[in-house]
Order: sequence, then C-alpha cells, then structure tokens
Amino acid sequence: MGESVAVLDYGSRWLKAGWAYNFPTDEEPRIMAPTAVYVDKNNANGPADSAAAGELQRPIRRGKILDWDQFESLAYYVLYELMGWELGNEGHVMLCEPLLTGRTDREMMTQLMFEVFNVPGMFCQDQAVLSLYAFGRTSGLVVDIGHDKVDVATVMDGLANLTSVRRLEYGCANLTQYMQQLMRDPSRGQQQQPSSDGSIPSSSSPQLTDEAAEALKELCVRCADSETAYKNSISSSSSLETFKLPDGQEIQVASSDGLRVGEALFQPTSLLGLRGPNIAEAAVDSAGCLLEPLLRKLMYENMVLVGGGSVIPGLPQRFLSEARSMAPASANAAIIPTPEYLPSPNVPRDAAWVGGAVLAKVALIQNHFIVKADYDEAGPSAVHRRCT
Ligand SMILES: Nc1ncnc2c1ncn2[C@@H]1O[C@H](COP(=O)(O)OP(=O)(O)OP(=O)(O)O)[C@@H](O)[C@H]1O
Ligand SMILES: [Mg+2]
Repeated sequence: MGESVAVLDYGSRWLKAGWAYNFPTDEEPRIMAPTAVYVDKNNANGPADSAAAGELQRPIRRGKILDWDQFESLAYYVLYELMGWELGNEGHVMLCEPLLTGRTDREMMTQLMFEVFNVPGMFCQDQAVLSLYAFGRTSGLVVDIGHDKVDVATVMDGLANLTSVRRLEYGCANLTQYMQQLMRDPSRGQQQQPSSDGSIPSSSSPQLTDEAAEALKELCVRCADSETAYKNSISSSSSLETFKLPDGQEIQVASSDGLRVGEALFQPTSLLGLRGPNIAEAAVDSAGCLLEPLLRKLMYENMVLVGGGSVIPGLPQRFLSEARSMAPASANAAIIPTPEYLPSPNVPRDAAWVGGAVLAKVALIQNHFIVKADYDEAGPSAVHRRCT
C-alpha cells in the first residue's frame, strides 16, 4: 500500500473515499459511508451499517469533528474494512478539509493519521479549493451546498480568502426536515387548489423515517425559475405525483411540494424559519467583499456550485438569475460547467473528493506530502508548514 493514496472527504452526511494513486485509481469515490456510528450501551463504537444495535451518533456537524473517537472508528472501518488497508502496510492519506477547520483540529487529524493509522504520509487542503480543481480551475467562487451547511468562499490561485467565507447554517438536511413537515401537514400556511372531486390534494404518508424522507426529497425536489414562477406554480398546481423509494414503498406527493422544498434554499427565512441570507445572496456578498474590482468581477464570472444540493434540478438556473439580479451589471455572472472530460455524472456532488484525487497525485509526485520524518521532527504542527 506504501505509495497508494486514499482520498477522504469527510462531510457531515457522507464519508467519501477512494484511491488516487498507484492502485486502480478512482474517478469518483468508490465508498460512500454514512458519517454515523452506532454507540452501544457500553459506549463502544461501530460503523452505521454494522448490525450492532445501539444509538446512532453523527460525529461531524457543520464540518467540525465533534467526537474524535467516533470519527476514528468510522475512518478505521472505511480504510481497513472497505478500502482494504492492512495493519502495518498502510498507505498515504489525502484529507479534504472543511472550510474553517481550526489549527487544533488540523493537528488532531495529523496526530490521528501518523500515530493511530501509521500512515507514511498525508496531505490536506480546503474543500473549496479542491472543488475548484475538479472543475479545472484555481480561481473562482465556490458555493458548496452540503448536508447541514452551505459554505461559500472565493479562491484565488488555489488559496481560499478567509474574509470572503460565508457559512450558512442550513443545508440539505433542513430540506429533508421541511419535506417531512410538508408530508405531515401539506396545507401548512400554503394555498392549494381543490382537485376535481373538490378535495385538497395531499401527500399520502404522514410519517416517514429520516432515510425515507431524504430519499423522497432527492426524488421530488426541484427549483422554480424565479420567485414569481414559484408562486404561480404552487397556486395553480393541484395534482399528486407518485414516487417509489429505494425500499419499495410508493409515496404520493402533491406536485408542488418538490418546488416548495427547493424554494427553501432561496427563501430560508419564510420557509424554514431560519435567519440569514439565501444561497445567491451569500455568494454575491462573498464576492462583493473583495476590495479589488477586477477580482470581484473574476469571482462573479467563475462560480461553481458543488455539494449534494447543487444537483437539484433547476437550481443552477435559479441561482444564476438571482445572482445576476444582485451582482453589478458590468460583471457577467456565470457558472462554470462540469468539464466534458470528466465522465462521472456526480462530479458536482463529489467535487471536493474529485479535486482531492487530482491534488493528491500532483502533491505526491512533487514530494509535498507530510512524511513520517517531518512528523517525528515537528510533531502535529508539521501540518501547518506543509499544507497552507
Ligand atoms: N439528487 C439530489 N437531490 C437533492 N438532494 C440531494 C441529492 N443528492 C444528494 N442530496 C442531498 O445532499 C446532502 C448530502 O450532500 P453532501 O454529499 O454534499 O454532504 P456532506 O459533504 O456529507 O455534508 P457537508 O459538506 O455539509 O459536511 C444530503 O442531504 C442529500 O439528501
Ligand atoms: Mg461536503
């Protein structure tokens, strides 16, 4: 395993993993493990898909590792059980680091990798920077619509500008909750037209598990072209649509519910009850804080949408029209499309991992990895010297 590199993108919903170097290399993460562990009564940790009964715990919240023991047990399961590492023959690791990861957490991760996982080398980089690499760019504005947060940042020549970072404390998990809420009470403060028999169409299953609600959301969510189009659609639509979930159950959903769920990313205050800007406002604000007009223009003209929420049908179009309406007219706001040479349809969703795999190859060949000798000499702080 010595020269191989395992790339890990650790999000709050998924731990994505795959090979980047000197192994059958992957074009997309070969493993997507739920970032969750079962903790049994004796407080022993096990991966979420193990049969062990216990309480489900999620060790990462909004990009921060809250429980290092649980994270270690999950990483162990992914690297040894699923990726095939052998004890005493571990490979290198490339870590796709959430924005705003603090110095202490970087050092904790470095220590974990060298002292517990015995890696011969490791490297890490911001997920925002890596997401741009997936699109073949080193500068641009990244909007990562993740599970429990949206991270926005401008990146210049491979360096994230920290003053431009905007973190929204909501994400796709809030859309799942909203979906559940709509299923419980479809008429909640919204207008619906009676169907031909005079009854108000309503979604058919009042109680859905979190997994079922997430799957249903992914099947039906979409975004309207504009707020006006959204209002028109929800006031005029009255039909029911049937969706089949992965577990086989069929659920009927009012056709406007998918639009309502997608709209929540553009109206988080009125639909989710959460304060703060919407995703387009945050992006324009992030670019707008740059002092140099040419840089601002560069950012507006090179935006990338990544993360699980970026694949919602209609979202890029809506995002762009909202961003254009707020950005200066002289800036031709645009979204960078997925490069044609990347075959995986999931590149936007997995962009941080894909960029991590790209950087891992280059960094390993150019000897940028932190190696054991660096760690032995400087300890965990070696990470700050090597990974900027
Ligand atoms: N096709 C889809 N349509 C709508 N939502 C989707 C789709 N695919 C994934 N999602 C949602 O995206 C979320 C997961 O996104 P992502 O993979 O970016 O999370 P993460 O990287 O683990 O989280 P974070 O970056 O916030 O720590 C889930 O809530 C999931 O339901
Ligand atoms: Mg993520």
